[in-house]
Amino acid sequence: MEWKNEYSVGILEIDDQHKLLLCGFTAIEESIRLGEGWSNTHYAILELNQLARMHFTFEEAIMHLFGYPETEAHQHEHQHFFSRMASIERHSLKKSAEVEMVQFLRGWLTSHILGSDRGYVKHIFSGAQVVRSNQDSLIHTN
Ligand SMILES: [Fe+2]
Ligand SMILES: [Fe+2]
Repeated sequence: MEWKNEYSVGILEIDDQHKLLLCGFTAIEESIRLGEGWSNTHYAILELNQLARMHFTFEEAIMHLFGYPETEAHQHEHQHFFSRMASIERHSLKKSAEVEMVQFLRGWLTSHILGSDRGYVKHIFSGAQVVRSNQDSLIHTN
């Protein structure tokens, strides 16, 4: 799955992490397409899971930091991803589950990146402040 400029949310760090997620997804797709076997595909699934865990933790920290009001709903979307991934992992031995898995991941990743992720970025770019700012004490001590 190719990265497209339209996927950019406007924060390089987040874009880089999203690129890694798409690479992780492509590794799964390729493993299936080339018939590399269950262990290869399963390994790729576990890798995507790890990447997603790191990325979601990062995003959720930013949302908390900037007091994004939709944080909880966004976290639920991330959790939904993991519950689907858990079921994908359980059924990854079944050849018939591959098409469904690829469709789910492709759909989820693009719609989440193009949709929900833009929500918190918009919040930050609209001038949100760090929730527990300590700017005053910095001004006094310098
Ligand atoms: Fe997200
Ligand atoms: Fe994201």
